[in-house]
Amino acid sequence: MPGILQCFNPSCRKAFDITDVLYTCPRCGGLLEASFGWAGLDPEALRCLWRERRLSEAPLDKSGVWRHREMFPFLDDYSSVVTLREGNTPLLEAPIAARYGGLDSLQFKHQGYNPSGSFKDNGMTAGVAQARRLGMTTVACVSTGNTSASMAAYAAAGGLKAVIFIPHGNIAYGKLAQALEYGALTFQVEANFDQILALVRELAEREGIYLLNSVNPFRIEGQKTIIIEMLEQRGWKAPDWIVLPGGNLGNTSAFGKALRELREVGLIDRLPRLAVMQAEGAAPFQELFERGGEIRNVEHPETLATAIKIGAPVSWPKALHEVRASNGIVERVTEQEIADAKAQIGRCGIGCEPASAATLAGIKKLTASGAMRRDSDVVAVLTGHLLKDPDYIYRYHTGQLDDPKGRRLESTFGNRPVVVPNDPQRIAAMLKGK
Ligand code: F0G
Repeated sequence: MPGILQCFNPSCRKAFDITDVLYTCPRCGGLLEASFGWAGLDPEALRCLWRERRLSEAPLDKSGVWRHREMFPFLDDYSSVVTLREGNTPLLEAPIAARYGGLDSLQFKHQGYNPSGSFKDNGMTAGVAQARRLGMTTVACVSTGNTSASMAAYAAAGGLKAVIFIPHGNIAYGKLAQALEYGALTFQVEANFDQILALVRELAEREGIYLLNSVNPFRIEGQKTIIIEMLEQRGWKAPDWIVLPGGNLGNTSAFGKALRELREVGLIDRLPRLAVMQAEGAAPFQELFERGGEIRNVEHPETLATAIKIGAPVSWPKALHEVRASNGIVERVTEQEIADAKAQIGRCGIGCEPASAATLAGIKKLTASGAMRRDSDVVAVLTGHLLKDPDYIYRYHTGQLDDPKGRRLESTFGNRPVVVPNDPQRIAAMLKGK
């Protein structure tokens, strides 16, 4: 039962073979999704199987993604899988962040603990397995940084040639450095993410290169396991809310699909509400959610949270469906709100990159407006590691962080390094606050 590829557009729903190399529906241009039948899956048996696999030494079982492979059975066999032990990320209690966000308690599912430091690894291991199964030799993506870092790692480990396209001068150094170190052919293009995506799609089709952006339905399948693992860690108790940042909206699509399918299989009995957070200068999805109709792209998206600096999110039809199906919400937050929330996540001893902090910034807004109750059971997904963007951190703490319009942000929770003389007496006096 390898499933099928199916058009997501409700008025089309055309089906294709799971091994067809397609990114959008050839009939209507809609997004594609992998579709499976769940008959015969027993929730209690699955829970036991997944628990037992934690004791196994087999690489497939050690992966937090492939351990749950019954929920995305698109491969005939698993010989094409490349695993770097992705997934297995912690669920962390964060009382300081909870207080800041106006909640009694808050849990962070921290995807920054992945091998390349972001949630992209959950999807990339699945996308690369499909690429290898199809006999592809070259993979490509456009990226705001994390997808390219992840793709470069998995392609290197799996013997594929990686070609990445990034907006010149607009990605965090940590991410660019990763792609170079993993050996990817790296093109810096003088265009924004949305423009480069159009370019790469054309190249992929023309040159027979396999596209590993989140429009690739197999990446979405892998990212479903973020939700599966989180629910497993919570003893299958669904939270009231799941909060995540939204950029190209692949992750929102993956989370919603996972939740609906888990409910179908009987692993959970209710859907948590999805709360998607966007940066103020790159918030076309928030505007769509508020105003309805068709999406209106933001031509010049702007945010220091470069991971979510996207004005034409490809997966918006899926994401809108998922947010509505879960009775969810979409909110936008300012640069200052992101920066301060990020510093508070740091004070928990946890830390994350700027895009991830949009979650806590949004929670603070939603509790203040009454849209989210103080006693809600909330899981926020931190999508990337603190060290992805050290430049941003240093600037914030030393009062040198300017927003995209050149306005200086407040260093509200700043923590400057202190220059001291090589003198124990003076340092001791300073430690006593003199
Ligand atoms: N958080 C981080 C750290 C990201 O890197 C991204 C997306 C998102 C959130 C948004 O996720 O696109 O699924 O809504 N980064 C992509 C990239 C676009 O190229 O690395 P989304």
